[in-house]
Amino acid sequence: MDERIVTNHELKEDTFEKTIRPDSIDEYIGQSEIKENLIVFIKAAKMREEPLDHVLLYGPPGLGKTTLAYIIANELGTNIKTASGPAIEKTGDLAAILSTLEPGDVLFIDEIHRIPRYIEEVLYSAMEDFTLDIIVGADSNSRNIRIDLPPFTLVGATTRTGDLTSPLRDRFGIISKLNYYTIEELSSIIKRTSRVLNTPIEDDAAIELAKRSRGTPRIANRLFKRVRDYALVLGDGVIDKKITIMALGKLKVDELGLDETDYNLLKAIIEKFNGGPVGIDAIASSIGEEQTTIEDVYEPYLLQNGFLKRTSRGRIVTEKAYEHLKIDHQNKLEIE
Ligand SMILES: Nc1ncnc2c1ncn2[C@@H]1O[C@H](COP(=O)(O)OP(=O)(O)OP(=O)(O)O)[C@@H](O)[C@H]1O
Ligand SMILES: [Mg+2]
Repeated sequence: MDERIVTNHELKEDTFEKTIRPDSIDEYIGQSEIKENLIVFIKAAKMREEPLDHVLLYGPPGLGKTTLAYIIANELGTNIKTASGPAIEKTGDLAAILSTLEPGDVLFIDEIHRIPRYIEEVLYSAMEDFTLDIIVGADSNSRNIRIDLPPFTLVGATTRTGDLTSPLRDRFGIISKLNYYTIEELSSIIKRTSRVLNTPIEDDAAIELAKRSRGTPRIANRLFKRVRDYALVLGDGVIDKKITIMALGKLKVDELGLDETDYNLLKAIIEKFNGGPVGIDAIASSIGEEQTTIEDVYEPYLLQNGFLKRTSRGRIVTEKAYEHLKIDHQNKLEIE
């Protein structure tokens, strides 16, 4: 099995994603505060017949930012055009996207923190005044031109708001931080997926899966898919708790959702760096992972659950991690 359960990118599973992705705000489970606010803002925008203010969605991978962007467009009853930060390399790329917009459209820019700075500046006037100021031609022949754009709503998504410049951030009227989901919410998401895919799951199995999903719907759905295979081949197709535990054991996902990489990461800090503090770059090279993958994907969950702490001198492993990994902390201290 080379499909990793925890990733920082959406895997190529488009049809699966599309079938299970909720498309109305009522079907979007959890994040109740964000939902309640959005419902009001969308309604007000429609009553005023104005575009919705620009929306910034941020939070760890797989929590539903893209899903929510599509839902916003659906609820507004408009089209959605999509782009991604890293793919916008020239001012012309952005201009090309902006010029396709129709009044009221949603422009979704994923990984918006990765737009180069000088292109970002073009976005400012587009967001503020719905105008596009660009320079055409080169050297002595160059001139500024201004193009009017239709009013539109920019929905930006990012896993790292820290990487967003403040001028860009300030131009969003609505800024929403997505949080990790509770076990109950994840279990509802899993049951919804089970209904959509016509694969029954028992309540206690849904809870067990939810507990191991790192607070993340994408992981919950991915684990569901794998457990479904075990239930079909080794059982009668119904997902029960026993088959769930067996399957997750085989996938090396422990009872708190930690996988092999989490174990390697925590063990590396303990064994190679005496529990820390240690810099993220040293951790990354010692376990052969990209620094950004650790920062975006692994670390947030480990921090949130108190396995890891961030200090000014680097990351340290907590007592809870020693206990979870069953590594005797006391002994280590005595040896030192
Ligand atoms: N609130 C939710 N209710 C039900 N399903 C959800 C919810 N949020 C996300 N999902 C499901 O989780 C999956 C991942 O969501 P999505 O792709 O929107 O995450 P993302 O935040 O955009 O991730 P990334 O940062 O990697 O782009 C989707 O397939 C979607 O079906
Ligand atoms: Mg996304």
